[in-house]
Amino acid sequence: MSVVVVTGANSGFGLAATLAFARNGDQVYATIRDPSRAGSLTEAASNSDLDIQIEQLDVTRPETFPAFVADITAAAGRVDVLVNNAGILRAGAFEDISENTLRLVMETNLFGPLLLTRAVLPTMRAQQAGLIIMISSLSGIAGLPGDVAYSASKYALEGATEALRHEVDRWGIRLALVEAGMYATGIFAASLPDDAVLPVDYPADSPYRPLIEYRLRALRARMPEAFDPSQVGELLVEIAQSDEARLRWPADAVAERVLGTLFAHDDAGRDEFLRMVSDTDWWSAGRDAP
Ligand SMILES: NC(=O)c1ccc[n+]([C@@H]2O[C@H](COP(=O)([O-])OP(=O)(O)OC[C@H]3O[C@@H](n4cnc5c(N)ncnc54)[C@H](OP(=O)(O)O)[C@@H]3O)[C@@H](O)[C@H]2O)c1
Repeated sequence: MSVVVVTGANSGFGLAATLAFARNGDQVYATIRDPSRAGSLTEAASNSDLDIQIEQLDVTRPETFPAFVADITAAAGRVDVLVNNAGILRAGAFEDISENTLRLVMETNLFGPLLLTRAVLPTMRAQQAGLIIMISSLSGIAGLPGDVAYSASKYALEGATEALRHEVDRWGIRLALVEAGMYATGIFAASLPDDAVLPVDYPADSPYRPLIEYRLRALRARMPEAFDPSQVGELLVEIAQSDEARLRWPADAVAERVLGTLFAHDDAGRDEFLRMVSDTDWWSAGRDAP
């Protein structure tokens, strides 16, 4: 039985991951920024007779992370898996999104996962094992118009994760990036309200209006093809049970096709290249510097 921490556990992938790990017999700490929104989670857990611990955690409040991790470690004795899932999407042309929006997306999708990871690493180093799963996106390997804030946050998350993995592998700590296509979750609600083509507060006089309207209409048209988030929950359990040192895990056929097309090398070839360039295999193997 593993001790698993999931952020943003009240909906979408976070809810699916929480239920999948709990069904697998793991001890899950499901974190939610606003416990009054725990309804779907508590209902699904009680319908399936699953025992899930709900904790309050806002990923934009890093000052709370050390005490949060200390409490979990004291209660459960360890943290085996951290799922950095909480995230937001704010669509819009770069000139049209406010600085506050840009910063909020980065705080939520980048600084939250990174600083929570940093808070959990001492526990994982002490136990000489651990897995940190970052929920990334195809927007983290391909930038599209209207997606600057979200893409910036996910690209940065990808780079940080790729850089961190060989700093911590000597302690048996693995990092995984989950690359997901399009799923029917709540994330589109803020950017793609049902009753408007554009977000309600979108600048009326924006020169980018036709472009953003077009992109959002295309996104909306594709919604019926969106995948079921429960398959991502099951993938996360598979990653936790795997002993593969793989970094990027496509969640679906679309993600697999995009990854295959975008990376000239496969992931293993890319990793081999990066390891050759950084020349730190001695570190990963737990040896002294040559
Ligand atoms: N759906 C897709 O197609 C897709 C594709 C690729 C990647 N992703 C990624 O998947 C992850 C989960 O998104 P989702 O699609 O499952 O959407 P979702 O249903 O909207 O779930 C996002 C979760 O993040 C939480 N959250 C947002 N801000 C937070 C904060 N400051 N502190 C703590 N929790 C916060 C939300 O809580 P509230 O309910 O309180 O807002 C919600 O529980 C995100 O990282 C997203 O980028 C999604």
